Amino acid sequence: MSCEALLTAAAQGLFPLEFDLNTARANPKSLVMSVRAYKIRPAQPADLAELVALEQQCWLKPLQASAETIQRRLQVNPTGQLVVVLDDAVVGVIYSQRINDVDGLSHHTMASVEALHQDNGAIVQLLAVNIKPDSQQRGLGDELLEFMLQYVGLMGVNSVVAVSLVKAGIKPSAMTLTDYLQYKDDRGFLIDPILRFHQAHGASLAGVITDYRLTVNNEQRAGIIIHYDLLKTPSSAC
Ligand code: ACO
Repeated sequence: MSCEALLTAAAQGLFPLEFDLNTARANPKSLVMSVRAYKIRPAQPADLAELVALEQQCWLKPLQASAETIQRRLQVNPTGQLVVVLDDAVVGVIYSQRINDVDGLSHHTMASVEALHQDNGAIVQLLAVNIKPDSQQRGLGDELLEFMLQYVGLMGVNSVVAVSLVKAGIKPSAMTLTDYLQYKDDRGFLIDPILRFHQAHGASLAGVITDYRLTVNNEQRAGIIIHYDLLKTPSSAC
């Protein structure tokens, strides 16, 4: 199945029952689709007001993307911004851009990183995943992220990165960020829920940008570089 066909199906609420990128690339007709309660489609300019509201509900003010930034994402890379729709309402979004290399990220902050976008960049950078607070903890974030990884994988992309943050208020103040990033539970899952969200999809920690979010002065100032190797089977990496 092509990435376009995958997206057309998702816009009708049809998703792969199981997905393995190598198999899907080698045998595009092998995917068996099943119906889910929600749909995923590219974000459109008409969604802007809902996307701005979602940003305000999901992030503290210093971490919010402005309406202009969201609008630019929709214009510059329209197929890289996907929304999840439940009962005809937008309840989540995943934003992305294309970049040429991972090393360039460490020369940027949250405010400047979107200058790295290149239409044909080999790597997809996830810019943010937002699920409306009253729709959280139902698996929608998981499924939106998983869909994005499948979609870009079928585009031919092998590498996906994100500059994540840790959840505020969980890291003990006496603990260094380096130690916190290694801090796992007895099942091997990271203690931090945002990093665990990525880990559950096979991401690895690939570095830290110390002053990535200059608008905050707490543990969320650091950018945690997360890397997905799409050719490896997801296995709770990190
Ligand atoms: N804060 C942080 N992580 C969460 C939260 C939360 N409030 N809720 C769930 N998660 C993580 C956990 O790891 C959870 O797994 P667990 O149940 O084993 O703890 C995992 O998400 C999967 O749960 P879902 O129900 O699929 O997640 P949800 O639909 O609630 O979406 C998301 C998760 C996107 C993190 C959502 O809570 C949200 O929008 N938070 C605010 C914005 C944010 O932090 N976005 C991610 C930042 S990283 C990035 O954007 C590149």
